[in-house]
Amino acid sequence: MRSQKIDVETLREWLAARRPVTVLDIRTPEDHAQWFVPGSLHFNAYDALKAGDPDALKGLELPGDRPVVTVCNAGKVSQVAAEQINRRGIEVFSLAGGMKAWSLAWNVAEVQLPGATVLQVRRTGKGCLSYIVGSASEAAVIDASVDAAVYLRLAQERGWTIRHVLDTHVHADHLSRSRALAQVAGAVLALPAQDRTAFPFSALADGQTIQFGHSRLTVFSTPGHTMESSCYGLDGQALFTGDTLFVTGVGRPDLKASPDEARERGRILYRSLRRLLELPAATLIFPGHASEPPAFDGKPVAEHLDRISSRIAAWLESEEGFLAAVLDRIPPTPPNYLRIVELNEAGAMPEGDVTELEAGANRCAVS
Ligand SMILES: [Fe+2]
Repeated sequence: MRSQKIDVETLREWLAARRPVTVLDIRTPEDHAQWFVPGSLHFNAYDALKAGDPDALKGLELPGDRPVVTVCNAGKVSQVAAEQINRRGIEVFSLAGGMKAWSLAWNVAEVQLPGATVLQVRRTGKGCLSYIVGSASEAAVIDASVDAAVYLRLAQERGWTIRHVLDTHVHADHLSRSRALAQVAGAVLALPAQDRTAFPFSALADGQTIQFGHSRLTVFSTPGHTMESSCYGLDGQALFTGDTLFVTGVGRPDLKASPDEARERGRILYRSLRRLLELPAATLIFPGHASEPPAFDGKPVAEHLDRISSRIAAWLESEEGFLAAVLDRIPPTPPNYLRIVELNEAGAMPEGDVTELEAGANRCAVS
């Protein structure tokens, strides 16, 4: 029996089909803490494997009734692990490209609402959440973060034609696929009104509505995370909040800002959040990011507004208190975000492999 490689798409399909497999992550605890394959088993053997220690996996117990997929950062050390496991007589594969390549993996959760279906398309390898909202035979896509073909296929399977493609803001953690998707789908590309992006789009203003099928999206201008950040309400039932409001936190106001600008944006974010908290308690909040890799379990990352608001109520008691709480908890800046913003403003996708540029977890939230 030889150890072999498996590509991201095949592993993604196995997990989506709930096929029994042990995903074995052999990276250092520091790397594992950043991001991981949902449901994976972590065994810290990276340094020992790299040093060629034949006992690097000593003490690791593996079920013998299912294949093992070994995972490291870039797909090299995981091959060494696979060779060692292979000697135990277990079918084993090394994930080609490692966690860097896994960054593109996605899965889906579906939520039925009266009059509309929401497909949450989760880029689980990075925690980016995008949405296809279908109503009758039409659909709108929000914050596309994986290849356009994925949205086209999912929409087609449900008999939807994609009419509108929207972004909630100019993203800093991933390359927006919205422009490319709108082009191949023949849909209207709509973005919050701003003068940052250098390509044609339909500009959205506060209160404006977008009609498709029997549904309607309503624009809420919610500056703070970025100055153009907007949320999109769906038929008074749900709200797509981008990086303004998350299930357990709020958007960071400091990217591409000086400390003074970050304070000012924090104040603006506070007012935007107060406005959102006035919406009905039962409004279902669909955020733009997850803080953990979404599992292949079909469970949406979403929460009713009253649950979220009770979680962050203490922060929102006063503007000064909010500023202190948020500015105190700012996470490290995401890698390569300046380059990603530049590309998103230009509406460009670089040639070739983008996983290096987009590597790492999203860091858009303060929680
Ligand atoms: Fe963002």
